[in-house]
Amino acid sequence: MSSDGHTVIATELSRPGFRQLQERLSAWPVDVRRGNGLEPILNEPIDIVVVAGLGFRSILDVVMRYSEMSSCPFFVVQPMQGALVFRHTLLERNWTIVKAQLTRYRDRFYATWMLDPYHLDKSDGLGMPNEFLDSPWYQQWLEYERRSDPG
Ligand SMILES: C[S@@+](CC[C@H](N)C(=O)[O-])C[C@H]1O[C@@H](n2cnc3c(N)ncnc32)[C@H](O)[C@@H]1O
Repeated sequence: MSSDGHTVIATELSRPGFRQLQERLSAWPVDVRRGNGLEPILNEPIDIVVVAGLGFRSILDVVMRYSEMSSCPFFVVQPMQGALVFRHTLLERNWTIVKAQLTRYRDRFYATWMLDPYHLDKSDGLGMPNEFLDSPWYQQWLEYERRSDPG
């Protein structure tokens, strides 16, 4: 994204994680900030937020809090577990799925959604996650999620 002329900001909560992030991104034009979730970017105009690599409760907490305080139009989210509960919770709150992608890496599946929190989608997406129907991993992913349902 930064090579396309966008400003990219990365945030990290822990001190060691922050140092590691600084080292890993030192060759990249990325503004690295320490803080909880999206707090380091509050009060700044943001086009898109990406939250990945955390459990679904942490991601929900981060994006819900931020969406109430900002007007960022798009969120890309990828929970490490609890994808079905995560999806249900956001759709129940009228977030709309703009795009979705299912990937497999080694023995894990990763569901990624691009979501719009402000424009209500009138179709009822609360049932099956049909946005992944075209994926070759759809059935396997459903079984994987049901087996690891965090309740
Ligand atoms: C699974 S690790 C991923 C680390 C790194 N991205 C990688 O791929 O090696 C998740 C990271 O998220 C950070 N983290 C957890 N909760 C956070 C929060 N609320 N705000 C910012 N960072 C957080 C943790 O400190 C940890 O470094």
